[in-house]
Amino acid sequence: MNSKEIRQKFLDFFMKQGHKVVPSSSLIPDDPSVLLTTAGMQQFKPYYTGEADSIKDFGSFNTVSIQKSMRTSDIDEVGDETHNTFFEMLGNFSFGGYWKKEAIRYAYEFITKEMGLAISYVTVFRGSDIAPKDEESKKIWRLLGVADVREEGINDVFWGPTGNSGPCGPTTEIYCKNGKRRDVEIWNVVFNEFFCDSSRDILLNGGVKLKQLKKKGIDTGMGLERLTMISQNVENIFDIDLFSPIIKKIEELCGKSYEDNAKNFRIIADHMRGSVFLIGDGVLPSNIERGYILRRLLRRSIRYAKLLELPENWHKEIVKTIIENYKEYYPELEQREGEIINAIKEENDKFCKTLERGLKELGKIDAVDAEKAFYIFQTYGFPFEMIGEELKKRKLFIDAKEFQEEFKKHQEKSRAGLEKKFGGHGLIMDTGELKAGSEEEIKKATKFHTATHLMHQALRVVLGEKVRQMGSDINAERLRFDFTFDRKMTPEEIKKVEDLVNEKITENLEVRVEEMPYKKAMESGALAFFKGKYPEIVKVYSVGKFSKEVCGGPHASRTVELGKFKIKKEESSSAGVRRIRAILE
Ligand code: GLY
Repeated sequence: MNSKEIRQKFLDFFMKQGHKVVPSSSLIPDDPSVLLTTAGMQQFKPYYTGEADSIKDFGSFNTVSIQKSMRTSDIDEVGDETHNTFFEMLGNFSFGGYWKKEAIRYAYEFITKEMGLAISYVTVFRGSDIAPKDEESKKIWRLLGVADVREEGINDVFWGPTGNSGPCGPTTEIYCKNGKRRDVEIWNVVFNEFFCDSSRDILLNGGVKLKQLKKKGIDTGMGLERLTMISQNVENIFDIDLFSPIIKKIEELCGKSYEDNAKNFRIIADHMRGSVFLIGDGVLPSNIERGYILRRLLRRSIRYAKLLELPENWHKEIVKTIIENYKEYYPELEQREGEIINAIKEENDKFCKTLERGLKELGKIDAVDAEKAFYIFQTYGFPFEMIGEELKKRKLFIDAKEFQEEFKKHQEKSRAGLEKKFGGHGLIMDTGELKAGSEEEIKKATKFHTATHLMHQALRVVLGEKVRQMGSDINAERLRFDFTFDRKMTPEEIKKVEDLVNEKITENLEVRVEEMPYKKAMESGALAFFKGKYPEIVKVYSVGKFSKEVCGGPHASRTVELGKFKIKKEESSSAGVRRIRAILE
């Protein structure tokens, strides 16, 4: 079956069982405590907790989707049989509609009857001090005739929560054999029974008590690439029809064979696909957060493109091939093709220039030690293995272990810096945007947050409506704000923005929060940094009549609390993006 047929089969099957098809949400999630969308359930979090009503929004307790997802924790595994960074997740969801018996039966029927595949074995939760053993699922599988049911622990078969809190619960996983007769996990069926008010790290460390959710929910996730691999009976995800046009294009461009260079081809194919989707959802390369993930994907692609000696403008051809492949399902990619190609070209040019300068620097060195190599690595952003290769070419020796040690030292130093900054006791608030280490710091960061909203609006008044928020980072000392704008601001413009913000502070405006469906928020003209997705209740913060933004808070209650606003620095953050640092005096 080709991937197109599989997509349709999945949606049709669950539609027939009373599920409403919901489009994929953006790779940029609404939840500010997570950087990227990593699972289909993320856009549905409020339906599990009861904050939103699925009957009202979808006319059903049950939904089905194919979700754009990205996980970078296994980036170094990409190139093997089963790992991707970007992938599409097939998922069926229920918010109080059905429970284990139906969920397992649907999964069983879809795999064995609709797809005609054999289940190799399944896993269930063996129980731990936070939740009991999942006897019920074991029985259901046995009744369906699946004999090999294996018990696993909390690290493997207990899902969630994503972000700082959320639904969680035991899971059952389905394994099938690939073309090499190896077992591959393809489907994760989650039973969301609990609510966890902390992050997964804290949950795994035994630091929380779970609360029962009022309504139990089902959340499932199956990688489209892996399912297609099993269905097409191949041994590698890169051998499926979603990747073969990209692989063919790389072959055509470099004139080298895939067989001889498989890993390099796969890394380029995976990373370029992920980059296209990230830029398609509004991410641009930078040194922080999502932008940094994108930069990493792109720079790794560029590095492997160099190894394969791909011609100049290689990226353009590959981007076009990827978009051609996906535009039917994700029309935003075709709409943004020009933007995507430009962003990648700029990053390519920037990185190539940096590499050139670095190579010159390397050329000046004749006796190399780990410290010097590390210096070059750090200054010019060189991938480690590339330094190694260049040195080998010049017949210079470098000790990999020493280099790794330098690298570790560097990591420890930056960690220590962070700890020092937050009083050595970790962060007690980290929304992704706001970071604070004590109650006192939370108070200060909260004021900066309100100042950020005022400044965002002031920038739009002074520079025009093309100003769009690209990132924000707030601590107890300052705010930092990235926005789209194509040139340096003049001193007059900076002064105007400062004056306008201070004027609004003196007016002592009230900060109000209202909850409403996302659609209504958009219609009311509220600004939203995170991009739209299917209807859902959002918080909208207004500062007087001056500013209105979709935002998770927290905020000051009146502007006079803020003090005097001052811009300390305005600089370039990345291509087409400016960065402002500002303080409150
Ligand atoms: N939320 C289930 C999964 O991503 O596997």
